[in-house]
Amino acid sequence: MLNWTIREEGYEEQNAPSLGNRYLIGNGYMGIRGTLEEYEADKLPAVNLAGIYDRAGGWREPINLPNGCFSYLRVDAEIYKLPEKQPVSHGIELDYRYGIFRRHTTWHTARGNVTLTTERFASMAKVNLIGIRFRVTADFHADVELVTGIDCDVWDLNGPHLEEVSMGGQEEELLVTARTQEQKIPVAVAETVFASYPVEMKQVVKGNKILHRIFFITKPGEQYTTDKWVGVYTGKDCDNPAKEALELVRIKKENGYDSSLRAHKKCWDELWKHSEVIIKGDSNAMQAVNYSLYHLHSIAPRHTESLSIPARGLSGQTYKGAVFWDTEMFMLDFFLMTDPATARILMKYRIDTLEGALQKAAHYGYEGAFYAWESQEGGYDACTDYNVTDVFTGRPQRTYFKDKQVHISAAVVYGILRYVEWTGDESLLDTKGVKTIVECAKFYYSLLLHSLTKDYYEIRDVIGPDEYHERINNNGYTNRMAKFTLEKAAEVVKKAMADGKLPAEYDGEELLRRFQDGAEKLFLPKPSEDAAHRNVIEQFDGYFDMEDATLEEVRSRLLHEKEYWGGAYGVASHTQIIKQADVVTWLNLFSQEYDEEVLRANWAYYEPRTEHGSSLSAGMYAMLACKIGEPDRAYPFFLKSAMADLKGGGKEWAGLVYIGGTHPAAAGAAYMTVVEGFGGIRLENGKLVCKPSLPREIQGMQFRIFYRGQEYEVKIEGTKGTVTAL
Ligand code: BGC
Repeated sequence: MLNWTIREEGYEEQNAPSLGNRYLIGNGYMGIRGTLEEYEADKLPAVNLAGIYDRAGGWREPINLPNGCFSYLRVDAEIYKLPEKQPVSHGIELDYRYGIFRRHTTWHTARGNVTLTTERFASMAKVNLIGIRFRVTADFHADVELVTGIDCDVWDLNGPHLEEVSMGGQEEELLVTARTQEQKIPVAVAETVFASYPVEMKQVVKGNKILHRIFFITKPGEQYTTDKWVGVYTGKDCDNPAKEALELVRIKKENGYDSSLRAHKKCWDELWKHSEVIIKGDSNAMQAVNYSLYHLHSIAPRHTESLSIPARGLSGQTYKGAVFWDTEMFMLDFFLMTDPATARILMKYRIDTLEGALQKAAHYGYEGAFYAWESQEGGYDACTDYNVTDVFTGRPQRTYFKDKQVHISAAVVYGILRYVEWTGDESLLDTKGVKTIVECAKFYYSLLLHSLTKDYYEIRDVIGPDEYHERINNNGYTNRMAKFTLEKAAEVVKKAMADGKLPAEYDGEELLRRFQDGAEKLFLPKPSEDAAHRNVIEQFDGYFDMEDATLEEVRSRLLHEKEYWGGAYGVASHTQIIKQADVVTWLNLFSQEYDEEVLRANWAYYEPRTEHGSSLSAGMYAMLACKIGEPDRAYPFFLKSAMADLKGGGKEWAGLVYIGGTHPAAAGAAYMTVVEGFGGIRLENGKLVCKPSLPREIQGMQFRIFYRGQEYEVKIEGTKGTVTAL
């Protein structure tokens, strides 16, 4: 049986930021960091909203709302808060089956002990709602004041983002309204409370907080329960966010806490029914995988028709809340297999943001669609030209992620076509879907360079997945993905022509000529034949000529622990040390095109040269290891992905930029390794097959997957796998 709860007993103030990520709850509309109710901005609490961004200075990031979870206790007129008042005992827990965060804290007071327990959830049934339950017990007649309300002192990485903040009360409710600075989007947070025992209640405004003060006297040993509802709306949800937020909390209060909680849990039961992964013989892995899936579920934008998932989920403003290739290449499969409707929403976002991609390509003088490296609403690229701050000078450092990481458009095409292949739903390939694919292919065609003395095309001046080497030529991964895009676009154009569905603006024959020509003549580096690199594919032109220093040597050259390894002067830039799986990512996607010895040689060559400086890296090594029949080698890399958030310890800094948060791409990679790697789930000629290859630690597995609208149950025992339609 899976233990669906993680716990942290004791209190260490310095762990607040990392626990905020690990104990995150969310419902796709908002994420609530796993911080204590009494925490103020310096401890990084956040109610982080999906898909709403604001600019402050040169930086655009998602907004954190006024914190409607804010609360603390006063006993006999003295305040009891962490970290100021050290507790007798304290702990937090996360029930990740149901997305419920809990805390318990006992303080010793002059007259006896007082215990506060709370629980909170971001409702899956009604995404604008947060439910919180407080319980207070004392072993004496304590004079208690529960203070709870909305804190407008918001934690921002680059704020403030809200203006015209107004705090007001209405009979039993508190209300904060504000609007974003840049787009003037109105936001509203309302709250109301209900106490099941006689209390005296007051509303007050104190500094930037609007609060309910709830007074009562405890009888020894008796429990006093107070429920609280927080309603959150923005101008993107409705015309009058304040009215909706107030109405929501009033209705929910009338219906009672248990009814909201029941509805919320029912939604989670339904999600797990289709997605829980049972792993026999390895409870550690089972917990890590399902905990990873919990995070993916908590940030899935089910409430919309078109939105994607930021690289750090809804854990805050890190990475500007932007969408990267992480969605298509790492997270998508989980949704395709367990929740295809959400997969559609994710891909629809790319189709709907085509306009931004067309503009970006035009800006750089290319044709077609160059998708945002860090996509925000409308496909706006939030990546700045100076995305890293130099630790030595404090100056912004020129980086080329935005202008040179051209493989992003191929990821979009890959995602859309994988969606169509896996679900059988061709509706995304309507006019706009076809256009998206054609424009991405046009982009790559316009990137191709033809030397007067060579009979092949090249793609120069790019960054591949390994970001430590900038502005390189013929990155194998990029070229293969461009070729894939050109080939697939040609197929899509052919089909659209046959069906009479090619948008009128296109000359189908000319597109076909170009795409086929581009795909055919695009240079792909081949497995090397020289003795020192036998069968290894060179990551880009000249990579083998770079200094072949070990990872330890390169690390020892750092002058500062937060120094950036890439860029012009980075310690890795002139060596063969790479940030993350690059050639290995390519070979994992196209493994059927190479002999096993080539796959092996590349895994063995690149792994020791990989810093794994991105949480995306380990999963690709795990999956390729499975494909060469080495599940035991895959296992530690798999566990690293699956533990990325459970264990934490990932990189928190890129230069001076804070990049801490959750790692949904690693979670997605852990899922793919389990299901597709160990489980051997794949398509062979359009047929779903299961050819398991389990690591030593795992005896069997059981899970469900959707394929083409049908749900299947997969059971694996040792080397035997069965797939049964449900
Ligand atoms: C990685 C990218 C990734 C991004 C967001 C970077 O550190 O190098 O590949 O897309 O983080 O997760």
